[in-house]
Amino acid sequence: MLMKLLKAVSFLSLALITLNASEFDKQAQKDKNELVKYFEAKFADPYKEKNRFFPYSTDDELKNGYSKGLKHMDFAIGSYSYAKDAKEQYEAIKEFPPYEDKIEKGETLYNQKFVNGKSLATCFPDPTVAGNYPYYDLNKKEVISLTTAVNQCLTDNGEKKWNAKKGDMAAFQAFLAYSSAEEGKKVDIKIPNKQAQEAYERGKEYYYTQRGYLKMSCATCHVQGAGERVRNEKLSPLLGQTTHFPVYRLKWGSLGTLERRIAGCIKDQGQVPPKVDSKKMHELLYFMAYMSNGMPVDGPDVRK
Ligand code: HEC
Repeated sequence: MLMKLLKAVSFLSLALITLNASEFDKQAQKDKNELVKYFEAKFADPYKEKNRFFPYSTDDELKNGYSKGLKHMDFAIGSYSYAKDAKEQYEAIKEFPPYEDKIEKGETLYNQKFVNGKSLATCFPDPTVAGNYPYYDLNKKEVISLTTAVNQCLTDNGEKKWNAKKGDMAAFQAFLAYSSAEEGKKVDIKIPNKQAQEAYERGKEYYYTQRGYLKMSCATCHVQGAGERVRNEKLSPLLGQTTHFPVYRLKWGSLGTLERRIAGCIKDQGQVPPKVDSKKMHELLYFMAYMSNGMPVDGPDVRK
């Protein structure tokens, strides 16, 4: 009898633990589902939804400039999912992608031995993990981005850190993204406990906080503003915004990491971006990546 009771109790507490684990991302899942609903409604038919979503656009632009009937996964390619003219140029560039040699460079870096005989392959035995970053590290009790994990691997092995925005870092991440995409991997961000949930919430808050003299938040442009034309480009959606990094930007003439792109957006607002390895940046990335959960990893990619 006692044994039975003990068993029942331990079964119960086990059930409670698993229940709690899935509790921590409840809000995040809800946020993501709402975002999907918002974008599907917005891009079902931009002309029909003019009053609700595009009050300042011309009828001609709304009738002819947008692809219609978009569904969740379509947003993986960012603004090219709806910007008709830009998508044609994009597809033309993708026929001879300017980042191809960078993937090879990344693979060489992956296997290259450090002075101590180890390599990045030692730290990342499975190169198809691009969609699992950032993750909440239960030992360090903080969010770790891919960029920070790579630099950590280098310094742990007595090597020098890389520039977090371009060069070898971007090439190596291109190799990981490519390997992940080839394997059909999806973005898979987890929120394992209360601290992780709080980190997610802080990242979200950063995304929605208005700053600068124009009082704009990331969301002003990439949620409410997504699809609006700015400087001859349609603004990309938060949904699917992290799946394709690193990107080769024609404007840069080189490959760059997600942190590089985000820092650019923040500088454009006249603000100082958080350091790439800061808690603020890590948590912002964590929130953004969670919003792309379940979408295929499709990097590297090309942008204007
Ligand atoms: C004033 C509008 C504006 C604000 C505010 C803004 N951005 Fe952007 N952002 C742009 C424009 C314009 C582009 C280039 C077109 C595009 O892809 O959206 C861009 C591009 C991006 C991209 C690249 C998308 C891709 O598919 O390559 C990311 C990522 C991004 N922004 C993140 C952010 C984050 C994070 C914030 C807040 C810290 C932010 N942006 C704030 C205007 C803005």
